[in-house]
Amino acid sequence: MKLLENKVLVVTGAARGIGRAIAMRAAQEGANVAFSDIKEDENFLSLLDELMKYNINAKGYVSDASKHNESQQFIEQVVKDFGKIDILVNNAGITRDALLMRMTEEQWDLVINVNLKSVFNLTKAVQMYMLKQKSGSIINISSVVGVGGNAGQANYAASKAGIIGFTKSVAKELGSRNVRCNAIAPGFIETDMTKSLPEDIVKGWYEKIPMKRGGLPEEVANVVVFLGSDLASYITGQVISVCGGMQM
Ligand code: NAI
Repeated sequence: MKLLENKVLVVTGAARGIGRAIAMRAAQEGANVAFSDIKEDENFLSLLDELMKYNINAKGYVSDASKHNESQQFIEQVVKDFGKIDILVNNAGITRDALLMRMTEEQWDLVINVNLKSVFNLTKAVQMYMLKQKSGSIINISSVVGVGGNAGQANYAASKAGIIGFTKSVAKELGSRNVRCNAIAPGFIETDMTKSLPEDIVKGWYEKIPMKRGGLPEEVANVVVFLGSDLASYITGQVISVCGGMQM
């Protein structure tokens, strides 16, 4: 039996990067996959094509995770289409880096809304269904930057630290109903988000990583599979780093 057989997994911001790897790994493990992204581009459509090859149910939804009502409607539609939700992965995230001295209110608000408010929006929308079925796993993608901070990323670090506080609180609220909530703190993962960084900055990061390389999106997705599966049935309120030892 595959690890996520008969489970329905929802993942936000999945057209590319870590979200895409999560959708693909979940499908490989037998999950039915509902994914969202902000637009139906080439990546979005090709993900749907690839998921379909796994003999599972898969559907993509255009939905902005930072919008409260839109997120509620997205989750309601997924329940109509799939019948239930077992695993929610709050993955959608962006960066708008600047030193605090130059950071605008717009950069602050955008990052907090997309990275942190989205987690509130989606978790609030699924909790009713998970409480009723007395099971569920919510997995929030934070960052090592949320734990340790990073110069030039005060907005991003605040959003990712906020996710950790939210995760631990939700774990305490929902644990008695067998709904688990955990966070993953990836380190430097090779995706479009990190591709845009200058080569010397990337080299500097690698130097600080005990494993001397960036991580692959699939290496984050493997932890999502574990936390979403029944193998993690007694794990809640935790932050698991996937960072090649960068944060100990
Ligand atoms: P990415 O930029 O490659 O992909 C992000 C996806 O989210 C894109 O498909 C984008 O269209 C979508 N998205 C953006 N705003 C959205 C919104 N409002 N609603 C729905 N979808 C939206 O990023 P990556 O690297 O795959 O990151 C995924 C998550 O992992 C993010 O939360 C990020 O902060 C986190 N992370 C990434 C790390 C890295 O090194 N790449 C390290 C630590 C955390």
